[in-house]
Amino acid sequence: MSETFDLIIHGGTVFTPGGAVVTDVGVRAGKIAAFGDLKSADAAEKFDARHLTVLPGCIDEQVHFREPGPIHKEDLESGTRGAVLGGITAVFEMPNTDPATTTADAIADKIRRATGRCWTDFAFYVGASPENAEELGVLERLPGCCGIKMFMGSSTGSLLVADDANVARVLRSGSRRVTVHSEDDMRLQERLTLVRDGADVSMHPEWRDVETAVRSTQRLLRLARENHRRVHVLHVTTAEEMELLAQHKDIATVEVLPQHLTLAAPECYQKLGTLAQMNPPIREARHRDALWAAVNNGVVDCIGSDHAPHTLEEKARPYPRSPSGLTGVQTTVPLMLDHVAKGRLTLQRFVDLMSAGPARIFGIAGKGRVAFGYDADFTVVDLAARRTITNDWIASRTGWTAFDGMEVTGWPKATIIRGQVVMRDDELLQKPIGEPVRFQETL
Ligand code: DOR
Repeated sequence: MSETFDLIIHGGTVFTPGGAVVTDVGVRAGKIAAFGDLKSADAAEKFDARHLTVLPGCIDEQVHFREPGPIHKEDLESGTRGAVLGGITAVFEMPNTDPATTTADAIADKIRRATGRCWTDFAFYVGASPENAEELGVLERLPGCCGIKMFMGSSTGSLLVADDANVARVLRSGSRRVTVHSEDDMRLQERLTLVRDGADVSMHPEWRDVETAVRSTQRLLRLARENHRRVHVLHVTTAEEMELLAQHKDIATVEVLPQHLTLAAPECYQKLGTLAQMNPPIREARHRDALWAAVNNGVVDCIGSDHAPHTLEEKARPYPRSPSGLTGVQTTVPLMLDHVAKGRLTLQRFVDLMSAGPARIFGIAGKGRVAFGYDADFTVVDLAARRTITNDWIASRTGWTAFDGMEVTGWPKATIIRGQVVMRDDELLQKPIGEPVRFQETL
């Protein structure tokens, strides 16, 4: 008698831990159950993946969906809808919401809101503050929580842990890896006069300069070592920090963003104005080159989007009253596939950065590789597709991308989450089926 599966993906080039192989993949009860020739097996659903590449599901470990928050910008439904259209299977959502996500009730509230409304699997960060520092060890272990997020420099929202004493209090509370926005707030405040009303947005990387980033990351690494705590340094932007981080790979993991790998100052500010404004800023080409070097020498562990939905009206305010942040959850996979097509990284490295990397950094249970027993999460891509990224493709309520009009090679053709095809050929299928991501340290 032939075997029966819920789903068989036929004939794709599948990225397994052993490399790329042309094989069928059988899925049962949401998990990967078989490889090999499954032509004669039965399945409720068959997916023809011939001429397509089947990657482990891409995970975005940094998104801002602003729920709770102003509904006209984004919410968990619209944010995760953009994610699946862009080939993302799981997101970790940031705590600089309104009000900030800093308590057990706030995390429970987010999980309630997410259930039945999230298209991807999801987890939430708990925001660190001087007020909740001693409780973080308990909060970081809540179901659906991916860990602590600490802002050492102020950005959108009010969350801030600026001084060494409070950073150390956070690092002493709990044991999971602490995720950090690393900019030195003291220096940001000192230099605020550089960006009085009337300043040009091209001043943004002058105000939030290299020293602002380096000083903070030096302090963070010293404090992490003194307090025996692992850290994950988000959106690293400078050549100098990459050099420093390379000396601390035993305790520090590193994220970079597609916008920092793709754009450079001053051109991005000339072309995009405040649409290119974000924290930490997009810098000159020498830093972008250093980020690419760090992608290719292994210092970088993962790529996130830092999807930050500000409306075009808000972005049109004169700098510096314009808010910081770019949308991105939907464009990460196409942009990075385009970099693969242009030879800037291998597809193997793409998989390491988008799936295996987040799984390793956060100790995700049962995701991050195409292997027996793992969740059947797949980002199915057409490496040869030539498409143009446009604002009207963007699901975010804000309706814009800094990459509007950019032609790319490589496109997500389907998003499969725990064996369910939720996106195919730019169409949503099913319903929002997202569930909380599980973590090895808090099973
Ligand atoms: O530019 C940014 N925008 N950087 C951040 O760290 C936060 C984000 C936001 O939430 O708007």
